[in-house]
Amino acid sequence: MAEIGQDIKKAASLLCIEDVVSIPTETVYGLAGNAFSEKAILKIFEVKNRPLTDPLIVHVAGIEAILPLVVELPALAKQLFEAFSPGPLTILLPKSNAISNLVTNGSQFVAIRIPNHPLTLKLLQVLDFPLVAPSANPFGGLSPSLAEHVEKGLGNKISYILDGGPCNVGLESTIVQIIDNDRIKILRQGGISEEELLTFAALAQPKNDGKEVVPGSMLSHYAPQKRLLIQPVSEVLKKYKSDEIAFLGFDQYSELLSKEKQILLSATGNMKEAAQTLFSALHVLDSLQVKVIVAAQIPEKGLGKAISDRLKRAAAKL
Ligand code: TXA
Ligand code: MG
Repeated sequence: MAEIGQDIKKAASLLCIEDVVSIPTETVYGLAGNAFSEKAILKIFEVKNRPLTDPLIVHVAGIEAILPLVVELPALAKQLFEAFSPGPLTILLPKSNAISNLVTNGSQFVAIRIPNHPLTLKLLQVLDFPLVAPSANPFGGLSPSLAEHVEKGLGNKISYILDGGPCNVGLESTIVQIIDNDRIKILRQGGISEEELLTFAALAQPKNDGKEVVPGSMLSHYAPQKRLLIQPVSEVLKKYKSDEIAFLGFDQYSELLSKEKQILLSATGNMKEAAQTLFSALHVLDSLQVKVIVAAQIPEKGLGKAISDRLKRAAAKL
């Protein structure tokens, strides 16, 4: 079992001896280590059981802290950080020699973000190094939006979880790349919507030629233990009994199932609330005595695109 608390000094002292600590962010909990320590980086991969080929996001406290990590901060990247940070936006930038190839899987681009959580911002301010942090879940599993989710998934492998309460965005950061200095390519949908980014620059479409590395793009990802289906409940009832089914609704319960095993993302159809609820709801439904979780279709507007992306990948579990 990991200790769960709010002691920034304790978290800092573990990070200073190259250990890993789970940290709260506004998106999901991260599993953090010193971005300049090979030992800490390798421990993150080992604890998550994550392949070394999946690169890590570097977290810093402010824009000035980015400068030593990159060879260039394009004007559009600076504008986006000024508009959305601290917040759920990650930008791929040309890395300086300060960032090891272990962090980026050999890529010349490093993913950087400024997380918006008071405890983690304070922690970053007392440290003299940035933090690499993937989501604090076993590789491929559901992301943690509460300290207890981290404890459930990784508690036997880490010693400290900095508890910052429930994550108030609830979806991972949006990851973007700047193309030709004036366009934004979205590599992962997340807490900042396409519509918000469009107010700054045109969007470049991903090429889909199979050659690009697209973050979080493994078909099966963000998955609960139980099978997840995105199908009408009436169809699922042809294969499963009603008490074998849990339901994740968007704004309406299914009338074909009893309400006990149903959770709504947002009764008022509010996307921000739906994003906040997503992973917590999946953790709860996954713990019920059912055989399958059925999720409703999510309207693909605003944050709905990112929510729908996570559900489709969760449903793709083999
Ligand atoms: O909101 C978030 O971004 C959370 C919190 C903890 O900050 N972090 C997170 O990290 O979601 P992770 O590792 O679970 O997902 C990051 C994704 C991975 O799919 C990885 O492949 C991609 O970002 N990524 C990281 N560095 C990259 C790079 N240099 N080039 C391309 N993709 C990168
Ligand atoms: Mg993750």
